[in-house]
Amino acid sequence: GATTLDVALNVNGHTRRLTLDAGVTLLDALRERLDLTGTKKGCDRGQCGACTVHVDGRRVLSCLTLAASVTGRPVTTIEGLADGDRLHPVQEAFLECDGFQCGYCTPGQIMSAVALIDEGHAGSDAEIREFMSGNICRCGAYPNIVEAVKAAGKGEG
Ligand code: FES
Ligand code: FES
Repeated sequence: GATTLDVALNVNGHTRRLTLDAGVTLLDALRERLDLTGTKKGCDRGQCGACTVHVDGRRVLSCLTLAASVTGRPVTTIEGLADGDRLHPVQEAFLECDGFQCGYCTPGQIMSAVALIDEGHAGSDAEIREFMSGNICRCGAYPNIVEAVKAAGKGEG
C-alpha cells in the first residue's frame, strides 16, 4: 500500500508535475519519469556521487533524496548547466583537461565541482580533492579532474 502523491518539481527552471509513490527517489524521478538520464545511478546508496544534483544551489545525492521532499525547490541537473549551446565553464574545463575517461561519473563530478567552486573550496589541489572526495571515479581520472576543477575555479575566481 504505497502512498501516491501529486508533486510539482522545479527542474532546470521548469515546473514538472508528477504523480508518484511517496518513496520514489529524486534520482528515479529524474531518470525514469522525466527522462533526464544525465544524472547517473551508480551505487544507489549514497556512496559514489554519480547521482549528484543541486537543490537550492547546494549539492545533494539524489539517490538519498525523496522526490516529494524537494517539491517547489529549484533542482538543477547536468542538463540544466549549459546556457543554450554554450557549455558551462566547468563543463568546458573537463573537456579541455580530459577530466574523464568512460564518462560515467562525470555528470556527478561536474555538479560537485560547480558547487565547490561556488562555495570557495577550489583554492588548492588538496582542498579540491577533499571537497570532491564524495565523487568516486572507477577509471581513476582524479588527476585530470583536479586539474579541470582548478582551471574552472581560476576562471570564475
Ligand atoms: Fe547516489 Fe551512488 S548513486 S551516491
Ligand atoms: Fe569512468 Fe570516472 S571516468 S568512472
